[in-house]
Amino acid sequence: MNVFITGASGYIGGSVAIAMIKNGHKVRGLTRSCSSAQQLMTLGIEPVMGELEDAELLVQEACKADAVFNTANADHLGAVEALIAGLKGTGRVLIHTSGTSIIGDDARGNFCSDAIYSENSTLVIDPRKQARRDIDLRVIEASKLDIRSAVVAPSLIYGYGKGINKQSIQIPFLSKNASDNGAVQIVGKGLNTWSNVHIDDLVDLYLLVAEKCKGGSLYFAENGEASFIEIAKSISKRLGIHAIEHLDPEFAVEKWGMARALFSFGSNSRVRSVRAREDLGWNPKNHSAQQWILNEMKIYP
Ligand SMILES: NC(=O)c1ccc[n+]([C@@H]2O[C@H](COP(=O)([O-])OP(=O)(O)OC[C@H]3O[C@@H](n4cnc5c(N)ncnc54)[C@H](OP(=O)(O)O)[C@@H]3O)[C@@H](O)[C@H]2O)c1
Repeated sequence: MNVFITGASGYIGGSVAIAMIKNGHKVRGLTRSCSSAQQLMTLGIEPVMGELEDAELLVQEACKADAVFNTANADHLGAVEALIAGLKGTGRVLIHTSGTSIIGDDARGNFCSDAIYSENSTLVIDPRKQARRDIDLRVIEASKLDIRSAVVAPSLIYGYGKGINKQSIQIPFLSKNASDNGAVQIVGKGLNTWSNVHIDDLVDLYLLVAEKCKGGSLYFAENGEASFIEIAKSISKRLGIHAIEHLDPEFAVEKWGMARALFSFGSNSRVRSVRAREDLGWNPKNHSAQQWILNEMKIYP
């Protein structure tokens, strides 16, 4: 297959690209940076220099591809429209990357919510996440244009990536922040809970979606969950940083910004991957972000 990946230099996109190459596919990957382009070549990925704002380029690349993985930015409507324009009427694959922060609540760290969503649930979307959800719906509806389109919404991803960027978002941020501040900092009581998934299992899901999805589907990706106080305790033990600090949510917003403080670290985001398991036979193998932190996470000096 000829594959086009946006975000090929990134954590998710790079990991998907390496797996596709291992499976014998030809991968072209978008990047804005010359140094990333050089590194992509050494990994066997043909670099395509450009950006998501370049609609004409994305249309051209999508036209040439049997499958497109959009992993650069979950919030970029223009890129999604261009990829749909390039693929419509072809019956080919478009997999867009969203995230389970679309169902994040306003817990500010202070409670574990009872709300657990599967792809079959009616989702409750915070108005601040509606634009991202609208992009997901646009991708799902694109199946009516004869595109095998799907949205993969990963929960908190852990593990090391296989491409250029090996680091995910939430756990690396908390770990580096802990090293910088001499304390593992979390929002409020840290009782808020996120589902999580290992990057290797997530990559398996992307491959299965490309192979089997008929189009018009959303797939959550999770294989476990943990509260942020549980994550913080694991980081604390692994790094030997004994203090755990509970940041006042308003202070966390000032320090980290709204999206990071209230969604990435302050919300609940509990999902179950029902469709991936039942419809695609997805069988994730890794079970616990805490065990990964305790046993495998690297400790930098
Ligand atoms: N990691 C997680 O835990 C997680 C979980 C759920 C959802 N997500 C979502 O998935 C998406 C990808 O996440 P990630 O962790 O893989 O991020 P990442 O490692 O930062 O990768 C994103 C890549 O996209 C490229 N990119 C960004 N803006 C671009 C633009 N305007 N034009 C062209 N390329 C652009 C960048 O490549 P160049 O700089 O080389 O151009 C970057 O390497 C994000 O939207 C994120 O919110 C991530």
